Amino acid sequence: MTNVAIVYYSATGNIHKLAVAAAEAAEKAGAQVRLRRVAEISEEPLAPNYTEWSEANDEHVAASRDVPVAAIEDLDWADAVVWGTPGRYGLLAGPLKHFIDQTFELHARRGLMNKAMSAFTSTGTPHGGQESTILSLSNVFYHWGAIIVPPGVTDDILLTPSNGNPYGVSATSGLQAIPGHLAQNVTDDNLAAVGYQTVRTLQVAEALTKGLKKG
Ligand SMILES: Cc1cc2nc3c(=O)[nH]c(=O)nc-3n(C[C@H](O)[C@H](O)[C@H](O)COP(=O)(O)O)c2cc1C
Repeated sequence: MTNVAIVYYSATGNIHKLAVAAAEAAEKAGAQVRLRRVAEISEEPLAPNYTEWSEANDEHVAASRDVPVAAIEDLDWADAVVWGTPGRYGLLAGPLKHFIDQTFELHARRGLMNKAMSAFTSTGTPHGGQESTILSLSNVFYHWGAIIVPPGVTDDILLTPSNGNPYGVSATSGLQAIPGHLAQNVTDDNLAAVGYQTVRTLQVAEALTKGLKKG
């Protein structure tokens, strides 16, 4: 059975919703799945004067409390890793980068080599840096010698109006800092597409584990 880790950071719930859909699709496809959220790196509020955002963040934190926090061992365990991050100025979110920095020892013993990896994102606007965010995260995959699995244009779901980015599923949240309405603009097509992307990634991992010797 293939081991799939869905590792994500989310502050206001959009990436969380996509990550849950990714995990459900992987489970349905028969994989062993670990859904893992990356912890915050600071206790300081990110936007102390932006009340709606802070309330939305609090609501998300409460809703995702039961999701286990990601550990480097989850990456060691996984054959495939599907990563989710909000776009922040066209880059992956800081807490996820902090988690990635802790892979140093695992990477040094080539523990991430040949694992199938793929990434998805959510940003406020469609041209707010979705592709650069995915590429900033995927850049790390090159260093690990991971096998990057893009969704490309390999299924009709990727051509639906709220999808269309071949680098990785990208949802557009708009103004999402609305407590009580978190992730309301993540579409059913986004959820189906991230499920498709995840199953494609685990299928590549299955082929790799059959065809390649690890280490
Ligand atoms: C510090 C920060 C920087 C952001 N930068 C961008 C950006 O460059 N482009 C954009 O479209 N949205 C940007 N956003 C909005 C988030 O990407 C967007 O709200 C996303 O849906 C949040 O995902 P989450 O709900 O999983 O946290 C930024 C948000 C924050 C807090």
